[in-house]
Amino acid sequence: MINTIANGERVVSGMRPTGRLHLGHYHGVLRNWVALQQDNECYFFVADWHALTTAYDEREVISKHVWDMVVDWLACGVNPSLSTLFIQSRVVEHAELHLLLSMIAPLGWLERVPTYKDQIEQLREKDLATYGFLGYPVLQSADILIYGASGVPVGEDQVSHVELTRELARRFNHLFGREPGFEEKAEAAIAKMGKKAAKLYRELRRRFQEQGDAEALKEAQALLGEQQNITLADSARLAGYLEGGGRSVLVEPEALLTEAPKMPGLDGRKMSKSYGNALSLRESDADIEHKIRTMPTDPARVRRNDPGEPTKCPVFDLHKVYSDEGTREWVEHGCRSAGIGCLECKRPVIEAVQAEVGPIRERAEALEQDPEQVRQTIYEGCERARGVAHETMQAVRAAMGLDYRPR
Ligand code: TRP
Ligand code: SF4
Repeated sequence: MINTIANGERVVSGMRPTGRLHLGHYHGVLRNWVALQQDNECYFFVADWHALTTAYDEREVISKHVWDMVVDWLACGVNPSLSTLFIQSRVVEHAELHLLLSMIAPLGWLERVPTYKDQIEQLREKDLATYGFLGYPVLQSADILIYGASGVPVGEDQVSHVELTRELARRFNHLFGREPGFEEKAEAAIAKMGKKAAKLYRELRRRFQEQGDAEALKEAQALLGEQQNITLADSARLAGYLEGGGRSVLVEPEALLTEAPKMPGLDGRKMSKSYGNALSLRESDADIEHKIRTMPTDPARVRRNDPGEPTKCPVFDLHKVYSDEGTREWVEHGCRSAGIGCLECKRPVIEAVQAEVGPIRERAEALEQDPEQVRQTIYEGCERARGVAHETMQAVRAAMGLDYRPR
């Protein structure tokens, strides 16, 4: 399912600095960021703390890729005059919110996040039985909630983290989102309903809150609708009190899934650095040509005049991303009739990839000549992000009763 958001929303997303970016990142993530920034207030950050949760023993790798990654973002068209670009660890408020959310994050919720067990399984060689790794979805929740974001562009694999973020926001609002004296005001309102109605309201509320009895909730709401002698404000209070809610301090976000095609790698599997099947965003024309020319094709096409089957060929997957319908028909027909050779078939893909990567590579090279500009962009982004994060934290601290004043 693809979720869309209205224009003018807050959007947050982060990317781990774990390696050079490739065409998979471009088609899967960055093109979407570039589109979102046109009409939304976007915050995009280098998730360096997240990288440390699994790569805590690879600090050189992380620090090297932080700047390379920002350069790649800018080269792909992420625009610092439209979006706020920053580095997570330079906005330390994320850590404060992470800590405060961790107070109310039930262990069971964290152990049930599907990526938790999966990753431990997949990264066997690493000791991930750490506090930081278990808590990493709470850190991600803090990243999102601190900007009051309503939309989070992520891949399928991250949807459960956005779901956890919603649950933590709801739990926070439930525990801390009440106006001062909320309970007293609600109790006073109950008393105004008259003895019989008050008793029934209390009974129904208890049934809903203790047993999750949805019928009781409905009945109590109907009961509130019938009351003549309480004000509208009291009625709203009692509706909130019924469900255990209050004011929202933290905004519940939604995942924004992209409709981007899965970018196939050179071997037909999903493009990924770890499979060694990627084309980087800095690839030279000669390397693009070489890598695509040596790509495997339908194994049944051993000789030039053996017919082939495009659906069994990774080159055809690239045609699906890069070629128009006419070209794809030319491939299908030419391949099945052995009318074209594989090198001939690869030519339009080579040219399309070169045309796409060329300008990105050139912009990246220019930015690398001007590190001061990149540094300045990030400096300004960190300042702006800190401003928003600071405001949220004031509301969070006040809601949690941490805004002490001398008496
Ligand atoms: N966890 C994400 C990943 O591994 C990166 C990330 C960190 C993120 N914080 C975020 C994504 C907040 C979206 C919003 O890819
Ligand atoms: Fe693949 Fe094209 Fe060769 Fe057919 S002609 S096997 S689609 S590279």
